[in-house]
Amino acid sequence: MTTALVTGGNRGIGLAICRELGKQGMTVLLAAREEAAGDAAVATLAGEGLDVRALTLDVADGASVTACAAALARENVAVDVLVNNAGFLAEGALIEGDPAIMEEAIAVNLLGPLRTARAFMPGMAQRGYGRVVNVSSNWGSFERGLEGPAAYAVTKAALNALTVRLAREAGAGVKVNCMCPGWVKTRMGGGDATRTPEQGADTAVFLATLPDDGPNGGFFAGRKPMAW
Ligand SMILES: NC(=O)c1ccc[n+]([C@@H]2O[C@H](COP(=O)([O-])OP(=O)(O)OC[C@H]3O[C@@H](n4cnc5c(N)ncnc54)[C@H](OP(=O)(O)O)[C@@H]3O)[C@@H](O)[C@H]2O)c1
Repeated sequence: MTTALVTGGNRGIGLAICRELGKQGMTVLLAAREEAAGDAAVATLAGEGLDVRALTLDVADGASVTACAAALARENVAVDVLVNNAGFLAEGALIEGDPAIMEEAIAVNLLGPLRTARAFMPGMAQRGYGRVVNVSSNWGSFERGLEGPAAYAVTKAALNALTVRLAREAGAGVKVNCMCPGWVKTRMGGGDATRTPEQGADTAVFLATLPDDGPNGGFFAGRKPMAW
C-alpha cells in the first residue's frame, strides 16, 4: 500500500490531488494547517469511499513539520509520495511593498517544501522508493519572464531550483519533479480561471505515480517537460 502526503490538501488543487491519489488506491495523508478544514475535507473524501486521514501541518512553521513527521514515525507510517502543494500568493513590489509578503512567500513556497523534503526524503531513500512533487507555476519560469506578483515569481523560481538540487540528492528509486497546474479555478486562481482543480491536479498525479524509469529533476505542464 502506497502512502501519500499532500500539503494544503484541504481545498483547491491539493484536495483534487488527494481525491485522485485516493482513487488510485493510495492511503492519503491530507495535511492542512487548520485542523477543522482538514477534518472537513477528509469527511468529504471518506464519504466517497477513499482511504484518507487528516494531519495538521503548517509548512511555514518548522516545528509543525517536525512534530508532524515525528507523530508519523511513532506510528510507523512511511510517506512514499510527498506532494508539496501548499502555496502563498500576494501582490506587492519587492522594494516598495510590504516585506512580510516576501517572508511569507519564502516560508510557504520555498522553506516549506525544503522542510518536508528533509523530513520525508531520508525514509524514501532508505526504502528505495519515493516520489516528490513540487507544485510550482509558470510564473516561476525564467523562459516565460518570471511574470505575476514578484514574491510569488521569485519563490516559485526558487522552488524550481530546489527541485533540481533535491533531485540530485535523491537516493536510488526516489524522484523529485516540479510542475505547473495551469490557471486553475481555486481561491488562488479566481473564478475566471480556465481549468478545473481536477485538470490542475493531473500532472501532479502523473508525477506522483511515475514508473521506475520516469524522469527526475524535471519541470512539467500537461504531463510534458516545460522550459525553466
Ligand atoms: N490556481 C492557479 O491558477 C495556480 C496556478 C499555478 C500554480 N498554482 C499552485 O498550486 C498550488 C495550490 O494552489 P490552489 O490554486 O489550489 O490555491 P488555494 O485554493 O488558495 O489553496 C492553497 C492551499 O495552500 C494552503 N496553505 C497556504 N499556506 C499554508 C501553510 N503555511 N501551511 C500549509 N498549508 C498552507 C492553504 O491552506 P488554508 O486553506 O489554510 O489557507 C490551501 O490549502 C499552490 O502551490 C499554487 O501556487 C496554482
